[in-house]
Amino acid sequence: MKKIMCVFGTRPEAIKMCPLVLELKKRNSIEVIVCVTAQHRQMLDQVLGLFHVIPDYDLDVMRDRQTLFDITTHVLDGMKEVLEREQPDMVLVHGDTSTAFVTALACYYLQIPVGHVEAGLRTYNIYSPYPEEFNREAISIISQYNFAPTPLARDNLLREGRAESTIYVTGNTVIDAMRHTVREDYSHPELEWIGDDKLIFITAHRRENLGTPMHHMFRAIRRVLDEHRDCKAIYPIHLNPAVREAADRELSGCNNIHLIEPVDVYDCHNLEARSFICLTDSGGLQEECPSYGVPVLVMRDTTERPEGVDAGVLRLVGTNEDTIYDAFTQLIEDPGEYDRMSQACNPYGDGHACERIADILEDKPYSPWVAN
Ligand code: UD1
Ligand code: UDP
Repeated sequence: MKKIMCVFGTRPEAIKMCPLVLELKKRNSIEVIVCVTAQHRQMLDQVLGLFHVIPDYDLDVMRDRQTLFDITTHVLDGMKEVLEREQPDMVLVHGDTSTAFVTALACYYLQIPVGHVEAGLRTYNIYSPYPEEFNREAISIISQYNFAPTPLARDNLLREGRAESTIYVTGNTVIDAMRHTVREDYSHPELEWIGDDKLIFITAHRRENLGTPMHHMFRAIRRVLDEHRDCKAIYPIHLNPAVREAADRELSGCNNIHLIEPVDVYDCHNLEARSFICLTDSGGLQEECPSYGVPVLVMRDTTERPEGVDAGVLRLVGTNEDTIYDAFTQLIEDPGEYDRMSQACNPYGDGHACERIADILEDKPYSPWVAN
């Protein structure tokens, strides 16, 4: 039996790792240990509950307004203990959070092999996104198995000199998660409020956007909503108090936006799928919305997910108030621009990434994911 430990700590990692945990548990030659750092608490538990995944270890590191130092030191100390006790044959980490980087570092110190799920995404600017670009580049130095979601991610790793034999193109596991969430017959009280109006779906949380950029993003959104009363926005606000303060200051009192608590991933995917436009700085939404053909205005200066930009569904609009205002207004008022952006496509996977990763870990034959 191969002992494989899956480690994750935030909402998006949980959404993308829980389907893999469930797949690995089906495999006879693999013993799965799940360790959560709980870098996120409530937002992590929401996902664990939905997928019925019960962790074997829970480091419970989250603190209110935690710094990168807090997360790094608590996860490093906690992982040392868990890894020394379990001595897994391999540890799987996901993406680019501090949980993923620090866990990989702990594995390196203890010389435990690391498998990196969602490997090879890059902007090559370590301050954008911050600290995620540094985290994922550093994990790539350490990891022995690189599960690249797309051919482009594979090419990044090859260009950086990673051995071809360590890289597998699997598709993104978020597409696997979406196979279980999106429903034709979905209903939600917020959709009754939307009625026949246009649903605008908003998320925002990036560390480098906290402060002035986030205020500018929200002001732009408010101006557009004030001018287009047939647009109604739903914004499930991240639990970070700094995000909540900015949203409260810039968006409260606007009666065509509903600021709501984070929704579970089942609601999130179904609301996204019914949206007219999404505005976000999230990584996950850039992967999810293209398959629904929902145009996304990405409120960031860089993206590590150029596949959706190339397909025309994502547009980078930065964090300048006027630029966001102009792009958002154009998308509402110009049907030609809207049609150009609202083409459903799936550049991120076919929903079988977890099976491929499990096959590779069992040394079974594997056929890479190939985009259509
Ligand atoms: C983290 C990741 C980021 C990822 C994002 C997904 C790092 C450095 N950042 O950023 O890569 O895109 O998660 O959302 O790894 N909070 C709660 N309850 C929760 C979650 C958060 O109260 O369930 C609050 C806490 O006050 C916490 C703060 O939000 O201190 C920030 O959380 P943190 O994980 O540090 O940063 P995120 O912006 O969530
Ligand atoms: N999401 C969710 N509830 C919400 C907002 C987002 O379930 O209220 C999901 C979303 O579908 C996506 C993931 O969380 O799968 C994105 O998480 P987030 O934006 O926090 O992080 P990022 O993807 O930027 O790392």
